[in-house]
Amino acid sequence: MTAENWDWAVSDGSLPASVDLRTDIPHPARMYDYYLGGKDNFPADRAAAAQVVQLLPSAPAGSRANRRFLGRAVRYAAELGIRQFLDIGTGIPASNNTHEVAQAASPDARVVYVDNDPIVLTHARALLRGTAEGRTAYIDADFRDPDSILQAAQTKELLDFTQPVALLVVALLHFFSDTDNPQALLARYVEALPPGSLLILTHGTGELMDPEIAARIEDTYTKSGLNIRSRTHVQVLEFFKGLELVEPGLVPVHEWRPDPDNEDDRLMTREEVAGYGGVALKRG
Ligand SMILES: C[S@@+](CC[C@H](N)C(=O)[O-])C[C@H]1O[C@@H](n2cnc3c(N)ncnc32)[C@H](O)[C@@H]1O
Repeated sequence: MTAENWDWAVSDGSLPASVDLRTDIPHPARMYDYYLGGKDNFPADRAAAAQVVQLLPSAPAGSRANRRFLGRAVRYAAELGIRQFLDIGTGIPASNNTHEVAQAASPDARVVYVDNDPIVLTHARALLRGTAEGRTAYIDADFRDPDSILQAAQTKELLDFTQPVALLVVALLHFFSDTDNPQALLARYVEALPPGSLLILTHGTGELMDPEIAARIEDTYTKSGLNIRSRTHVQVLEFFKGLELVEPGLVPVHEWRPDPDNEDDRLMTREEVAGYGGVALKRG
């Protein structure tokens, strides 16, 4: 399914007639759902995720920390006055979806969600529920095809690229190997953003843990047919090229403007969290 036939798929709130979920193979969205304690996962997802948890018992806690980062970063954007969000690699709806956080702060906020996993498409209806003043849309498209996202009818209808937009690529870019050139792909999206826009990004890393464990985690994903690419702090920083990181910069996700009342973030260690997060401003 492509962005072109999205209207048929979800604009009236109905689900597509047939979506092949390929429940026999693990999918990143459903493994993440499993880590977050969701119910939209299948034995193949759970088996692959359980192997990762064996190597990194904090994987579920790290996923929850990533999700809390997303909430704090979206709130930060909303507090800066940003009313438009492009969230690529949306995932299966979980608590504090981007539109819920953004529209709680600014009821007129507009959110365009994008994912290429068929299971996320089956949840589009939940993602499309927004406030009366705000709006949300869902595009079934691949990050590797910027035109299918930036030129989609829903993007053009909901997002005004003469006004600041927050672009979210949260826990997405580690699914791309260097041969996919995710830096160049991301640059295409950043280029489309007007000054005053924000890039909100997290990325998995093995740099903060025992290198042997990190290698075995990558190996587990590969054997499950999934591509995952851990990157170092220096490599993740490259995604912010030309942008100005806001304080505290690129840090382990639980250290980015933590909520002082959140005990989970306070007790979490860098080794456990296994991911960097940062928010950057596009100046000119
Ligand atoms: C780990 S989840 C992150 C969900 C959410 N952003 C969060 O951090 O809570 C990664 C999501 O990226 C999606 N994804 C992976 N590759 C993608 C691609 N090429 N294009 C669009 N989405 C992709 C997966 O389907 C999955 O839903």
